Amino acid sequence: MASYILAIDQGTTSSRSIIFDETLGVTASDQREFTQHFPASGMVEHDAEDIWDSVVATARNAIGKAQIEPASIAGIGITNQRETTVVWDRKTGKPIHRAIVWQDRRTSGDCARLQKEGHEALVAAKTGLLLDPYFSATKIRWLLDHVEGARGKAESGDLLFGTIDCYLLWRLTDGACHRTDATNAARTLLYNIHDNCWDEELLALFDIPRAMLPTVEDCAFEFGFTAKELFGASIPVLGMAGDQHAATIGQACFAPGMVKSTYGTGCFMVLNTGTRAIRSENRLLTTIAYRLDGETTYALEGAIFIAGAAVQWLRDGLGIIKNAGETGPLADAADASQEVVLVPAFAGLGAPYWEPEVRGAIFGLTRNSGPAEFARAALEAVCYQTRDLVEAMRADWGRSDGDVTLRVDGGMVASDWTMQFLADILDAPIDRPTILETTAVGAAWLAGMKAGLYPGKDGFAEIWQLQRRFEPAMQEADRERKYANWQRAVQSAIAQQA
Ligand code: G3P
Repeated sequence: MASYILAIDQGTTSSRSIIFDETLGVTASDQREFTQHFPASGMVEHDAEDIWDSVVATARNAIGKAQIEPASIAGIGITNQRETTVVWDRKTGKPIHRAIVWQDRRTSGDCARLQKEGHEALVAAKTGLLLDPYFSATKIRWLLDHVEGARGKAESGDLLFGTIDCYLLWRLTDGACHRTDATNAARTLLYNIHDNCWDEELLALFDIPRAMLPTVEDCAFEFGFTAKELFGASIPVLGMAGDQHAATIGQACFAPGMVKSTYGTGCFMVLNTGTRAIRSENRLLTTIAYRLDGETTYALEGAIFIAGAAVQWLRDGLGIIKNAGETGPLADAADASQEVVLVPAFAGLGAPYWEPEVRGAIFGLTRNSGPAEFARAALEAVCYQTRDLVEAMRADWGRSDGDVTLRVDGGMVASDWTMQFLADILDAPIDRPTILETTAVGAAWLAGMKAGLYPGKDGFAEIWQLQRRFEPAMQEADRERKYANWQRAVQSAIAQQA
């Protein structure tokens, strides 16, 4: 009896495969990091072949560790870093260039030009997004314009485009299926989230041939079957969602008004707005939370590009910690009289500023500022940016202060220090669940629900369990002074760039 689910979580810095049993418990998992390429300032690339190898290796290892027969896997759920753009040759299967990663800013000039020409309102109305290099469309166009012969081949239907989910599906099915799901499509700048289709006007605006694009399906769907030789059995791929959408599902944020915030490389906050696509007045994104049984649930999303990446910077850039777990205790030891503020705009600023050209800055240094103050500033910056998003969401969603409870997940939320500061600076409770692997759980649930192994939304929501609630404890005056310092620092960093 097939009673396991394999979740593939393909993230920005690593790939993970997790085997879940019929109670959604983790049976085994495996993880592998892969190389990040930074060919020039503001550019970030991945080798799609590395990503593929890491996915296959971790999936095989997880199956091996779980000591299960591949045939006992009822389905695969894929979740992935979003927007990252792969273009490959339909016949050879070879990518024409390294994948251009969501963090890559090389097309900021193209976006500025399109903004100047007055296209942003149309793009926002149709896609819920903004003209920013973050999304896929200008990356696809860059590839077609810079790789020799690419445009001609794309026009004759010889090149395929996909975000990572789509590329993995294509490889898993040995080129049989070129499909994506509505959440990933919604991040391309080419998908009309209201009509649920690729949009001809946007394809013309970005000069992208329709023939390159995958078909778009619900998040729980029979996407295709894995080639038998990969895992020793032909396994159906039954679930697919971009990682932030999978985390929204994994946090059981199924009701309008529920919010989750995931702290991975970046931080992404998603507010379920039900069947209404709310147009943000505060530079948040409107996106598809998930699409099930043909019904689209919408969300407001705030995207911060640097969260866990700030901790990585402390480790790899500054060398002041050896592992992420040291950051909280180090921050706790910081001198309370210093107010060092870090604006971690290493890849520009995302919501609600959308300033792709701004770079990082640090304020308030004294002779006594050292590793502890840098660590505290890095963690605090993540929390200040979360407050920026919450403020914008409160304004768009029209709720009073008391109503926000945030469900958090991702690597950084293991830090009690960070979660307490987050509650303090938001002046709102923070709920940390028992399972922090919510992204993978969301992907597993999509596949397992489709396979008939897991319950529907209501039954699944009952499985969600609170591990700890962090209540705000900071004095109002301190909170507002600190947040005002942050806002001043951000504005200075932006002005510096102008
Ligand atoms: O939009 C980018 C996002 O999907 C990447 O997430 O977890 O890999 O930082 P993560």
